[in-house]
Amino acid sequence: MKQVVYNQYGNSDVLKVEHKDRPALKRRNSMLIKVSYSSLNAIDWKNRKGHFKLFTGLFKPKTKQGFDVVGIIEDKSKDVSEFSIGDQVIGQLGNFDGGALSEYLVVNTKEFVKIPKGIQLNQAAGIPMAGTTAWMALMELGNLKKGDKVLINGGSSGVGHFAIQIAKAYGAHVTSVSSSKNLTFCTQMGADTVISYQEENFLDKEAQFDIIFDVVFNSSYKKTKHLLGTNGIYIGTTPSKTMVFELLRYQKAKFVAVQPNKNALQSLIHLMEENKLKVNIDKEYLLDDIIPAHQYLEKSRTKGKVIIKIAK
Ligand SMILES: NC(=O)c1ccc[n+]([C@@H]2O[C@H](COP(=O)([O-])OP(=O)(O)OC[C@H]3O[C@@H](n4cnc5c(N)ncnc54)[C@H](OP(=O)(O)O)[C@@H]3O)[C@@H](O)[C@H]2O)c1
Repeated sequence: MKQVVYNQYGNSDVLKVEHKDRPALKRRNSMLIKVSYSSLNAIDWKNRKGHFKLFTGLFKPKTKQGFDVVGIIEDKSKDVSEFSIGDQVIGQLGNFDGGALSEYLVVNTKEFVKIPKGIQLNQAAGIPMAGTTAWMALMELGNLKKGDKVLINGGSSGVGHFAIQIAKAYGAHVTSVSSSKNLTFCTQMGADTVISYQEENFLDKEAQFDIIFDVVFNSSYKKTKHLLGTNGIYIGTTPSKTMVFELLRYQKAKFVAVQPNKNALQSLIHLMEENKLKVNIDKEYLLDDIIPAHQYLEKSRTKGKVIIKIAK
């Protein structure tokens, strides 16, 4: 089977598609998945470049590439009753494992849910890490309620376009910040108010928000606190020095740390079934084209998601 591997940190040409043996089932909670699609996340190029070496291996990468998995169960260990062979499933691999960019995978059942018929697999593949990040930020950290005023800084990004749709689905009033070329896209995703960062600075607005979700993380709690209502919170996405300092100092500063979250995944799939959530597929690449896919991702101009088709 084909699998994307990287044995050193660096530019996209460190990525190789190699032939490996199919992984063997484990004795418990184990399923063999024939992977249909995956999707890329900013963490994939950041891991490849060694941005998180402390966690991914100081001298040599220990994590594999790719976290989002959509595929079909080909085999399972005897104790698995929740799933059947032939089920379509979706899941997110652990942050310290990865390996979704592979034709076959052995996974733990606890990270997976079924995909109902009628949902397109390439659409679903965009959901796991980016959708879960948006869900955890707004619903778990933000306790989003109907009528809340939410600002999403980076509404056209992978995480951002999910955040707009989740906030709308749960009855919030959404303000999205993006470049001018993406204003219409953010409106289509459901934003009520759109701001172009090329035309105005959202920090100069006279408004009060219950949640500011700084997806692209070019602001801070301190810079945005005049825009927060009495119980308003600021949520960042990047573990920078400023973020750590603010987390320790201010109760209203939060940081989302995504991890596999079955409840979030199930809720996002339900929203998709109800036509309240879609994945904007900016580009779809074949597994063999992982290098151009990474080159595109790393430009950070993706509108929605980059999908990788794995099964022929
Ligand atoms: N902490 C966590 O658990 C966690 C989880 C997932 C992601 N993240 C982080 O969250 C960030 C977003 O991830 P992602 O996958 O959504 O990224 P992405 O899809 O690669 O982001 C690209 C998008 O960002 C927009 N953008 C770039 N600069 C902008 C700016 N100054 N203002 C507004 N929009 C801007 C671009 O639109 P334009 O071309 O219009 O500018 C493009 O649509 C990354 O830094 C990622 O590492 C953290």
